[in-house]
Amino acid sequence: MRAFVISEANGQLICEQRDVEPSRIDQNDVLVRVDYSSVNFKDAMVASAPSRVRRRDTLVGGVDAAGVVESAPGDDLTPGTRVAVHGGNLGVGRDGGFAEFVFAPRRCLSLLPPTISLRDAMVMGTAGFAAMASVLALEDRGLAPGAQVLVTGATGGVGSQAVTYLALRGYAPVASTGSPSEAKWLLDRGAARVISRSEISDRPERMLGSELWDGAVDCVGGKTLHQLLRSMSYGTTVAVSGVVAGAEMATTLYPFITRAVALVGIDAVEATATTRQRVWQTLGEVAPRIDFLSLVDRVIGLEGIASALEDVRAGRTRGRILVHLNHHSDESP
Ligand SMILES: NC(=O)c1ccc[n+]([C@@H]2O[C@H](COP(=O)([O-])OP(=O)(O)OC[C@H]3O[C@@H](n4cnc5c(N)ncnc54)[C@H](OP(=O)(O)O)[C@@H]3O)[C@@H](O)[C@H]2O)c1
Repeated sequence: MRAFVISEANGQLICEQRDVEPSRIDQNDVLVRVDYSSVNFKDAMVASAPSRVRRRDTLVGGVDAAGVVESAPGDDLTPGTRVAVHGGNLGVGRDGGFAEFVFAPRRCLSLLPPTISLRDAMVMGTAGFAAMASVLALEDRGLAPGAQVLVTGATGGVGSQAVTYLALRGYAPVASTGSPSEAKWLLDRGAARVISRSEISDRPERMLGSELWDGAVDCVGGKTLHQLLRSMSYGTTVAVSGVVAGAEMATTLYPFITRAVALVGIDAVEATATTRQRVWQTLGEVAPRIDFLSLVDRVIGLEGIASALEDVRAGRTRGRILVHLNHHSDESP
């Protein structure tokens, strides 16, 4: 099969399209024929040398895939079943979705609701999963209709979908972005307001800023998360999923001990079967009301991945980058 292979030797990184055999790690792995994959921030972290996240010197990249089951041990998955595949070590420590086929552990497969096409499953992808899991985490902690929810990294994959889903569920998402030229696009996605990254908090001379936000979805981390925490309203929650601005953060305990702010972690990689089912089912409920094409930055083949990874690293993307592998199934354009 054709695949996009990432390999590192002596500190030198080679990313290239190549013919490889699908590689099975466990006899219970499920073989999935991939219709679509997507390019994520994490793929750019994997395709770096050195890489803090990649666990093998050579592997097929791609943390995301959507396709149909080709063969599976046992009888709970019949050939042709439509699935989204993410998590485990896919595209990080074992071959991933930038290929025509992928072997994946059963726990990484989610059955797709009928309202989500294989293409749209990858418009959502791991990023959409993290975005919806974040919204559900805020709702579980009592987010009230109409709440002003700050979304950081708003033009990215997680951020743009968080804006979309929050708006569809009756909240007022405030989009924080470093790309002011994308303000209209964010308003069209459902943002109630668009602000710059420097407007997340005020009163820099004080420990805490004004209480501005009723909830927050943060995929940026680092200093941004610190600014966010110090401007949360009393008793509210931040759902954090990403590290675009850094995995380390210097902050104080005051938001937690004087404003009862909660910080909840979101994880799409080792999410339990119950969480996966809940999130994909909720994505299936909102899917009919989403203008998916407006969330797509571009659709590429394997040959476009290397330059897409460069664009992700440089922050030159808006929404999602789809990788089209196979043409055979349901509603592929
Ligand atoms: N926990 C999980 O399970 C999970 C799942 C999916 C993704 N993630 C993580 O979530 C993060 C975002 O992923 P993604 O796919 O949405 O990435 P993305 O599409 O590349 O979007 C990231 C966005 O962050 C903003 N940004 C970029 N550089 C920044 C900087 N230096 N400071 C502040 N903001 C910056 C940009 O938006 P603006 O220009 O609009 O500000 C950019 O579009 C990544 O760390 C990824 O690994 C985690």
